[in-house]
Amino acid sequence: MTISGSIEETRKQVKEWKAQGLRVGLVPTMGYLHEGHQSLINRARKENDKVVVSIFVNPMQFGPNEDLESYPRDLDRDAKICEQEGADWIFHPEVEEMYGPDFSGYVDMNTLPEKLCGASRPVHFRGVQTVVSKLFHIIPADRAYFGQKDAQQLAIIRRMVLDLNFDIEIIGCPIIREEDGLAKSSRNIYLTDEERKQAVILNQSLEEAMKAIDAGEKDAAKIKNMIVKKINTAPLAKIDYVEVVSFNNIQPIEKIEGEVLIALAVYFGSARLLDNRIIL
Ligand code: PAJ
Repeated sequence: MTISGSIEETRKQVKEWKAQGLRVGLVPTMGYLHEGHQSLINRARKENDKVVVSIFVNPMQFGPNEDLESYPRDLDRDAKICEQEGADWIFHPEVEEMYGPDFSGYVDMNTLPEKLCGASRPVHFRGVQTVVSKLFHIIPADRAYFGQKDAQQLAIIRRMVLDLNFDIEIIGCPIIREEDGLAKSSRNIYLTDEERKQAVILNQSLEEAMKAIDAGEKDAAKIKNMIVKKINTAPLAKIDYVEVVSFNNIQPIEKIEGEVLIALAVYFGSARLLDNRIIL
């Protein structure tokens, strides 16, 4: 496995693989890898001849008061995990390699980034789309793997690939959870013991909502209220949002029908945790 910080070297290698007729899978990450990331690498390993993992804490997707500086980083540990999962190449550029001094190009979109995480993190998705576009150009892979954990991100990337004709297949992968149901996240390390205990309420509230939907509840507002009420029983939880939207355009809906995303973001102390269910 090679670790490279060079755009030129990485692109050259991937082009060589492609010229040999090999299929290449890309797993974009910000590092500090956990079992969620590992599941994406593992899937990419099974479905491709070569696997590239990008590890880049992308400053453009962090707002001015967010956790860019404190975001956890550990390349040695990440490299071991990638090696273990059978990755062939880690692309780990410095910020200067990705964003030169006069950088001024952006990829942005209407509608999909407005709600949910986009409402509380206004520049976030513009940063995600820009860096993912750059990664797709640097690493001309056949497939790229994204987690359903960041469901709005997945919907935006799918839309972007469609709208801008990127020649890459986007594979969405299921949420990997801790034993008690908390979705794995690099940000879980910010939680105190008590916050960690209470954070299980997120998955539990979604579980309850799904039971109600399975039993025939179709009213999106009722489902939303049910989740809010449940989360508010955890004293340390501070809700950022709970929303029921169409998975295709990330706009609020009144009735549960078609492809539906039930998504939430909740603060426990300084950690903002995400969870969701997608009904297809
Ligand atoms: P990061 O948060 O490191 O996540 C990288 C990928 O891992 C994303 O596709 C995310 O959805 C997936 N992932 C995270 N936790 C997961 C879990 N518990 N189960 C399954 N998949 C999980 O998302 C980003 O980085 C960045 O925005 C990025 C796309 C790399 C652009 O900078």
